Amino acid sequence: MTQDELKTLVGQAALKYVVPGEIVGVGTGSTVNKFIEALAGMKDRVPGAVSSSNASTERLRAIGIRVFDANEVGELAVYIDGADEIDGRGHMVKGGGAALTREKIVAAQSRRFVCIADDSKRVEVLGRFPLPVEVIPMATQRIVRQFAKMGGTAKVRLKDGQPLVTDNGQHILDVTGLQIREPLAFESDVNQWPGVVTVGVFAHQKAQVCLLATAGGVQTLEF
Ligand code: A5P
Repeated sequence: MTQDELKTLVGQAALKYVVPGEIVGVGTGSTVNKFIEALAGMKDRVPGAVSSSNASTERLRAIGIRVFDANEVGELAVYIDGADEIDGRGHMVKGGGAALTREKIVAAQSRRFVCIADDSKRVEVLGRFPLPVEVIPMATQRIVRQFAKMGGTAKVRLKDGQPLVTDNGQHILDVTGLQIREPLAFESDVNQWPGVVTVGVFAHQKAQVCLLATAGGVQTLEF
C-alpha cells in the first residue's frame, strides 16, 4: 500500500470517532485532508466543526460543513488530527504544516484527541522529525541560542525564500538534534521562554487514541 492509501484508510477509520450531533474538532495536514473527504459522507449528522487552520477551514466549507469559531462553542467531544511523530504514550510532535498553535488550542478544547497517522510516524523517542516551534520574530535569535545550549540546531522555516508566516502572523523554527525523552517537562520548559508562542511537542495535549495505518490494516492504540 502507498503512503497515500494508508492515509485514506486511516482518514476513513476516524469516522467512527465522530459523535453524531456534536461539533467535531478538525486538525490540519495531508492525513486530515483524507478525513475531511470521508466526513463529507456524514455531513448531515455533524452540525459543524472547529478548524485548526485556514487550509482545513476552506476544505470543510467546500464540502458544506459549517465552521465555528472556537469561542462560539464549548468543549468538543473529539479532536481528530495527524502527527509528525507519536511515541508509545501518545505524546506527539506536530507542526509540520505550521498549524501547531491552533491545533493545540482545539486539542485543549476537546475531551478526546484521536491521532490519525501511518506507521512511519511511530517512534520510540520524539526528536527524529525537526521540532516545529512558533515564535514571535523579535525573539528568534535568542530562541535559536537557547536551543543551541540544549544541543539543538534551530532554523527559520522558509517559504519562497522568505520566513514562512503562520496563520497567526508569526514565524516557525525547525529544531534538529534533539532527543525528547521527557516530553511533559520539555514542553513546560520551552513554553516559558519569552517569544515562544507554541512548541510542537504535544504532551499536555497528548492523544488518547491513535489510529495507526499499517500494511496489515488500521491498529488502534489507546493511551
Ligand atoms: C500540521 O501543522 C501538523 O501538525 C500535522 O498534523 C502533521 O504535520 C501531520 O501532517 P501529515 O498528515 O501531512 O503528515
